[in-house]
Amino acid sequence: MCGIVGYIGKADAPTVLINGLRRLEYRGYDSAGIAILDEGRIVVSKAPGKVSVLNEQARSAWPAARFDRCTTGIAHTRWATHGPPTEVNAHPHLDQSGEIAMVHNGIIENYRSLRVRLEAKGHQFHSETDTEVLVHLIGEYDRGDLFQAVCDALHQVEGTFGIAVLSAREPGKIITARRGSPIIIGVGDGETIIASDAAAILAHTQRVIYLDDNDIAVVTAESVDIRDLHNIPVTREIAELDMDAAAAGKGGFDHFMLKEIHEQPDSLGNAIRGRLDFNQGSSVLAGMGTSQRELAELRRVVLIGCGTSLYAGLVGEFAFEDLADIHAEVQQAAEFRYRNPILGSRDLVIAISQSGETADTLAAVREAKQKGAFVMSLCNVVGSTIARETGRGVYLHAGPEISVASTKAFTCQVAVLLMMALKLGRGRRFSRDDGMRFAKEIENTPALVGRVIQQNARIAEIAAAYAHHEHAFFIGRGPMYPVAMEGALKLKEISYIHAEGFHAAELKHGPIALLVQGTPIIAIACDIPGKSKTLGNIEECRARGARILGIVTEGDDEAAASMDDFITIPRCHPLVATIPAVVALQLLAYHIARLRGCEIDQPRNLAKSVTVE
Ligand code: M6R
Repeated sequence: MCGIVGYIGKADAPTVLINGLRRLEYRGYDSAGIAILDEGRIVVSKAPGKVSVLNEQARSAWPAARFDRCTTGIAHTRWATHGPPTEVNAHPHLDQSGEIAMVHNGIIENYRSLRVRLEAKGHQFHSETDTEVLVHLIGEYDRGDLFQAVCDALHQVEGTFGIAVLSAREPGKIITARRGSPIIIGVGDGETIIASDAAAILAHTQRVIYLDDNDIAVVTAESVDIRDLHNIPVTREIAELDMDAAAAGKGGFDHFMLKEIHEQPDSLGNAIRGRLDFNQGSSVLAGMGTSQRELAELRRVVLIGCGTSLYAGLVGEFAFEDLADIHAEVQQAAEFRYRNPILGSRDLVIAISQSGETADTLAAVREAKQKGAFVMSLCNVVGSTIARETGRGVYLHAGPEISVASTKAFTCQVAVLLMMALKLGRGRRFSRDDGMRFAKEIENTPALVGRVIQQNARIAEIAAAYAHHEHAFFIGRGPMYPVAMEGALKLKEISYIHAEGFHAAELKHGPIALLVQGTPIIAIACDIPGKSKTLGNIEECRARGARILGIVTEGDDEAAASMDDFITIPRCHPLVATIPAVVALQLLAYHIARLRGCEIDQPRNLAKSVTVE
């Protein structure tokens, strides 16, 4: 989704800003732009398409000296919401005087009424965006104090924003503020970098300040002064970033997605390390911040998330019920606050989000807190809004996930959910011996995933038989049903093949009507309870001409013989088996998308972190 970079310091700002935008490309965007201060004027360059187009445009249009002498600017990648991805709609936008420039993430919900008000005062707008309205409003309030003008304007807006504002009348500073859309300030040595995502800051410094909602900061090369919207100073700690620049590179792989799939033995190792207690047959998850007594008193677990995180939650639902005998349910985060969720202090709400910034999940977190539930998060991005707002939870430690298609976050989410369920289970039905056995199973997940990754070349060959189809159906039952849905999501988002995940038993209630000669059925038919029924469903598909690709357990010749093609996963506990099974589907989706020539890491229309509802 949209990305912000701002820079003030001693280096060549256009280059710093464009490099920062490159670091944000993974988030998904469709146009880009930059504004810099040059000899008392604001100079803007914007272009639809990639950052590389913007770079070429700026380098050919601007004199080389401008790159050398400009040390202050703001830049943006835009994921279109209000108006198509054209040059005129791209950020930065200017106020009426042309002396104030702004970049903005989020949505100003009351922009129409503000625009009418400003038009009545003679303002002329060039774009269809809500952002241009906000910068005009700032210009309208500016009486020689940019900070105060931004405060005054922000008091008028409804909606969400992360902004960076630059004025030719007040060089030497950038004003930045947030409400519902992240802003991180990197504190360097004689330079300060503002960004909506730590990836753009890494190359400069590891020392960062996370703004909270309704914080507004005056940033110079040497200082960061943070206040609230009533001009009262607030204190925000400087934190150390938990990632390094190398981790944000492709490391020799053709795509971030392939790299991240291959990283899973390590990312799972990091997610698990130090968190299994083999002596007690339990797990140690200090971030949950709960006593064993509080856990014993819980009545229900509610898992919320979107997309891949939602599907991880569905695996978690099985785990909490199977291991801990506790009622568990999954709710799609966007729906949560619109449906009167019945919650109380004995309900544990777990918000699952790789980015920790998903607007729907954040809104659900706020609703759950308001209703007095016991709320915690499962995030990957340290210091993200959801992690901070929940205040308790468990980080995945999966490392930066750059590819829009989530891979290693899913497997680590499942691993952590299994550890949470184990912890709850030990306070309920699990004996110490049961717990020890299950802890061993979790510990083994990196090796299980490694065995699937070893089949990469074979999976690439199998993919060739499925890459030319326009529809594909994934089936599974029990905990493999969410795996089927996640496999379908992976395939559709990166290959643009229409893919659906169905419960294996549900096919005959309707979807089977879609099968024609050769339709791909990807069946997760590992050796877990219910397998024989799934094999029966496969025969029903075969009888209607479908081509079957099975995910089967190593050594299960009966299941393998039912398939046209198969990929194996090692034998393990049915809940644990979701992890290697999904890795097989990730590799399948990757190779199909590659054969179809798709842009794997940045699929069309998608954003890595979805910060609008
Ligand atoms: O950052 P989150 O986990 O909250 O993101 C949720 C979804 O937007 C995300 O999982 C999305 O579905 C991915 N593109 C899936 O690959």
